[in-house]
Amino acid sequence: MPPEPASLPDSPEFQALRSVRDLVRWGASEFNRAGLVFGHGTDNALDDAFHLVMWALKLPFELPAVYLEANVTERERIAVIELLQTRVRTRKPSPYLTGEAWFAGLSFEVDERVLIPRSPIGELIQTRFAPWLTVDPESILDLCAGSGCIGIACAYAFPEAGVELVEIDAGALQLVERNIARHNMGEQVTAVAGDLFEPVAGRRYDLIVSNPPYVPTAEWQALAPEFKHEPRLALDAGADGMDVVERILSQAPDYLSDDGILVCEIGGSQQEFLARYPDIPVAWPEFEKGGDGVFVINRDELLAWLDARGY
Ligand SMILES: C[S@@+](CC[C@H](N)C(=O)[O-])C[C@H]1O[C@@H](n2cnc3c(N)ncnc32)[C@H](O)[C@@H]1O
Repeated sequence: MPPEPASLPDSPEFQALRSVRDLVRWGASEFNRAGLVFGHGTDNALDDAFHLVMWALKLPFELPAVYLEANVTERERIAVIELLQTRVRTRKPSPYLTGEAWFAGLSFEVDERVLIPRSPIGELIQTRFAPWLTVDPESILDLCAGSGCIGIACAYAFPEAGVELVEIDAGALQLVERNIARHNMGEQVTAVAGDLFEPVAGRRYDLIVSNPPYVPTAEWQALAPEFKHEPRLALDAGADGMDVVERILSQAPDYLSDDGILVCEIGGSQQEFLARYPDIPVAWPEFEKGGDGVFVINRDELLAWLDARGY
């Protein structure tokens, strides 16, 4: 059966929604009724609805609970209901509706040209990659930059380091530039267009960090509609998801300084990675805030492993 058409936002049935709390509760119920999928900054219907309601009402996320009881105006109610209905109708992840996503405590502009930031690497940045990074990095490379969230957050964590970001997609690169300007990082952060290491030939970095595409094509095809709004180039990485990761592994030693480390997310493709490279000497950091599938390896270890494999 086709879904029932949604009531118009100014319909009398919505008069019962008077307070901020009413709107969050109703939105969450609608999201659950529609079977929405989360995972773009929130992991459940109530949090997702809360974010959208706060954004539409121009209120802080840390709103003291007493204000949740405040009544909204007629115009506000209509605007909030329209936004919540758009989330259901389009299945767009909420950050694409608000144009903003949060990563490592920082705000980034996003649209459908870039993946919505959510990498657990954010937690490693906030702890300055301890204990794996043993030098104060002078040079950092963010490969596969998307919105630029990882490289820009690294620039905050390491104010003395020069940071370069590489992104292959021209549309994404425009957003990287906007986010560099948003954070006033033009002096410290540079973005370049190109395929992995190709635009930084001859350079060496103390830290190479990457969240590349790593989803196998068949898995990408089966993803929920929310994820299909994200660029395919950001997710789909061939039959076993290892196309880009393999290239990063084999080329990274040429771009790492002697004490340099490579930090790379492979998320749910960790099993595939271990099946393909059972003897690779990587560390797997654990995350307090959730997430997994990030490996760390230093240049010497990577070089020795590649040599042994005859690369
Ligand atoms: C998984 S997204 C990560 C974006 C961002 N770093 C983040 O963590 O939110 C991967 C990004 O890599 C870009 N990309 C894919 N293949 C690439 C390549 N060969 N060279 C450079 N960038 C590439 C995609 O366009 C996409 O923006």
